[in-house]
Amino acid sequence: MTIQFITTNAGKFAEVSEKLAAASVKLVHLDRGYPEIQTDRLEKVLKYAATGLDDEVKGDYLIDDSGLFIEALGSFPGVYSAFVQKKLGNRGILKLMAGERYRAAFFETVLLLRQGEEHEVFHGQCRGTIADAERGKGGFGYDPIFIPEGETRTFAEMTVAEKNKISHRARAVQALQAAFARFGQQADTAEADSAEVGADSEDASDVDSAEASESPEPWQSFGGQRCVSVSKTCI
Ligand code: IMP
Repeated sequence: MTIQFITTNAGKFAEVSEKLAAASVKLVHLDRGYPEIQTDRLEKVLKYAATGLDDEVKGDYLIDDSGLFIEALGSFPGVYSAFVQKKLGNRGILKLMAGERYRAAFFETVLLLRQGEEHEVFHGQCRGTIADAERGKGGFGYDPIFIPEGETRTFAEMTVAEKNKISHRARAVQALQAAFARFGQQADTAEADSAEVGADSEDASDVDSAEASESPEPWQSFGGQRCVSVSKTCI
């Protein structure tokens, strides 16, 4: 299965492809942007983007919208994270937090997968605190000022593999992988059913005429083909 990850952010692509390295999914980078509306929820940004991308992109794709939500700032920057990172940067956030002792925050990632005609969204969250100063050279965006729960290091002080053990994005990808497993099972079942149908229609030629003349149960017959079970493949 090939999925195009549509993002201009090389850091996001590195994280998601590391996480999916062992999966039976080939992730390719489609380095392009898409219109992002200003709204109150990350999921809405993706659903709007998908309406345009569905016409412009052939094949299955994945998009990611993420944000940092700082509790002492009333969840700011949240859905404004990209704009605020550009305008204020991490230093601006640290200034807003100067003297603030309550430093709880969380990251949230929403992924939207378009597969065939279907859209499915997956969420991941990571709680933590805002550091007193920028630390670390890895990662991107707010990574130098975010310390995930249970850690003393910021995300920017971790490798991609370390961040991927606990991050919001990694958790959303885990939910995505569970869906891939489901799709895989459905595909396997459909394949097995169609193989069985094939085998059954071969067998049908061996069935003696008395048996063949027995009328099948209504659920056994679709479009003139004799089916061993009702499945999407048969229908
Ligand atoms: P968007 O998902 O590209 O809209 O990201 C919004 C803002 O959050 C951008 O400034 C990103 O750099 C930043 N951001 C998104 N994901 C992460 C992350 O995992 N770590 C740090 N910053 C992030």
